[in-house]
Amino acid sequence: MSSTREKLISLLSNQSENFVSGQWLSSQLKISRTAVWKQIKQLEEDGYKFEAIQNKGYRLLVQPDKVSENTLYWGLDTKWLGKSLEHYPVLDSTQRLAMEKAQKGAEEGLVVVADKQTTGKGRRQHRWYSNHSGGVWLSFVLHPKMVPAKAPQLTLLTAIAVVQAMESATELKPMIKWPNDILIGDKKIAGILTEMQAEHDEIHYVVIGIGLNVNQTSNDLDHQIKHMATSLLIETEKTYHKQVIIQAILTHFETIYHDYLLNGFEPIRKQWLHYAYRLGDLIHYTINGEENRGILHGIANDGSLIIEDEQQQKQNLYSAEIKWFEGVENNES
Ligand code: BTN
Repeated sequence: MSSTREKLISLLSNQSENFVSGQWLSSQLKISRTAVWKQIKQLEEDGYKFEAIQNKGYRLLVQPDKVSENTLYWGLDTKWLGKSLEHYPVLDSTQRLAMEKAQKGAEEGLVVVADKQTTGKGRRQHRWYSNHSGGVWLSFVLHPKMVPAKAPQLTLLTAIAVVQAMESATELKPMIKWPNDILIGDKKIAGILTEMQAEHDEIHYVVIGIGLNVNQTSNDLDHQIKHMATSLLIETEKTYHKQVIIQAILTHFETIYHDYLLNGFEPIRKQWLHYAYRLGDLIHYTINGEENRGILHGIANDGSLIIEDEQQQKQNLYSAEIKWFEGVENNES
């Protein structure tokens, strides 16, 4: 059960375009109008700003720069993604919790956000350093009606949504390193983890996890990943309102996901190529233990990577057989 203060914030957040009268707030909250006024004064002390007009009431203008369920709802213009949302100051992993909630029947669009994660998960059982509140750490639940073989396409379209969100907030030009890394230059700034529960030809649920380094300085990044990771702050020398970045990710994801459900993967594939890291470059890869070299040609309709080998033959790569450059990868170890 939320407190009177939380209910008040939520009533004002939901009506951010309109004035709400003290009378209406007092009847909703079942407290006197003087008590409403006192609560509003306290909120102002905490950084909230209101426009108050006699006979009209209050309108919320500014929320403090802090991630909370309320600040995330405020101004979120998605239709379904994030309409149900849980925020935690600390969690072991948003991915673990979202998978558990999906298993118990959570609806499509549930978003779990944490300020810090104690055991963040990366791909291939790697750990994901996220015990710092400067990053965006979130996971959300989908129930796509499609065959499990198409799930890798979801990682690729999520990467586009994250890149577009970064472009909307910064002047940066991020690139996507197939399949799930987002880079600035050669440094990783974000990663995507797609997990699902599926059976035969049916997906029960998918959970997509996104980790994006936002307000960390280079000292805030774990020493093991410092040399190969970066953040929006490091790249632009600016700090960001994380709630705005989260909202942008959710909005871009919803748009691109609708496009995908309506028009299939082909338009997504074309957009993806626009952001592809090392497209047209010579890269090293291994197939069945044998080292090869080839040109990174693009991605196929099933989301696999197409390489043109030295005999001009095209090969489709499905897993982590690629050596992008010497060294390791990211927020992972
Ligand atoms: C990778 O690049 O290996 C994927 C990293 C995914 C990290 C995110 S952070 C939010 C969510 N919760 C987790 O434990 N992992 C994902």
